[in-house]
Amino acid sequence: MHTLARRLLAWYDRSHRKLPWRAPPRSRADPYAVWLSEIMLQQTTVAAVESYFTAFLQRWPTVEALAQAPLDDVLAAWAGLGYYARARNLHACARLIAEKFEGRFPDEEAALMRLPGVGPYTAAAIAAIAFDRPCVAQDGNVERVVARLFAISTPLPRAKAEIRERAASFLARERPGDFAQALMDLGATICTPRAPQCLLCPLAADCAAAQLQRPEAFPVKPEKIKKPHRRGAAFVLWRGDKVLLRRRPEKGLLGGMFGFPSTPLEQDVSPQEFAAHAPMKARWRPLPGAVRHVFTHFSLELCVFAAEIAKPPSIGENCRWANACGMDKEGLPTLMRKVAVHAGLIRA
Ligand code: ADE
Ligand code: SF4
Repeated sequence: MHTLARRLLAWYDRSHRKLPWRAPPRSRADPYAVWLSEIMLQQTTVAAVESYFTAFLQRWPTVEALAQAPLDDVLAAWAGLGYYARARNLHACARLIAEKFEGRFPDEEAALMRLPGVGPYTAAAIAAIAFDRPCVAQDGNVERVVARLFAISTPLPRAKAEIRERAASFLARERPGDFAQALMDLGATICTPRAPQCLLCPLAADCAAAQLQRPEAFPVKPEKIKKPHRRGAAFVLWRGDKVLLRRRPEKGLLGGMFGFPSTPLEQDVSPQEFAAHAPMKARWRPLPGAVRHVFTHFSLELCVFAAEIAKPPSIGENCRWANACGMDKEGLPTLMRKVAVHAGLIRA
């Protein structure tokens, strides 16, 4: 075994993180748990995922159980993890595995990659962790560690291919699952983006960046583009002790989720145009302050309007009246939750 791999695995045996989806070193975890955790961990931190993972596994202990759950239940349980397309794909994938694969996940990278919501990284991670296939699960953590170990001077994203080759060059074929997770853990706990702890690192003696005393110079970053800023408004309509919720269109941002009616979030709307997007005529008053939220491709500032109406008007079929005091249990997406907090419907 390559020296780097031997040192890395010895460190992993001593210092691995205990995470709810993980099996102890030298053993394999349930593929369903591995798949579920990897989908949740796409673009979300370990700290944010842990409680969701545990709740999902308790409620839906098998892929068949998840496949049989109504999509709305899955979306509601997912609320707060963001990127709802992932929850939709999760459900679609569970159904596919239950119906077409007899409940068993494929055990090879290429076959895994054909599943809904499973991209190259996730396929490699599942193949390595659940099936001990010698695959490189190359995420940001792994890219950082490997770019530093070899002081790779090509900037990202161009460096990706080189990083992949370098990682494959010291992959531990005897323990690919532990190797993948060890790289993740090293990147998350020691070889962190800022102030890596080279003095505690099991690989310091073989690390080119540490030898140059410039660990933070790697990976070399691409020019950063600033996210555009958008404005919009959300509308909280009261009728007695109820408020109006509207289901968002299937396609697009927060697709299919219930929330407060709003201006189209896909575009910047100027304050003069807010009123035109109100769900109905009423005496709308703006609440002081604003709700801020950052999406993948833009940041958003929402002004929140509130109004009360006495008589029940006809509402669209994508709308419903929800109990104001039960807003906490609506499974609102994070943005809409912030609106509810801003409007005093949920305590922060
Ligand atoms: N990030 C992505 N997958 C992970 C895993 N299996 N363990 C820890 N962090 C991860
Ligand atoms: Fe990262 Fe430092 Fe370890 Fe190199 S020695 S892998 S830079 S923590």
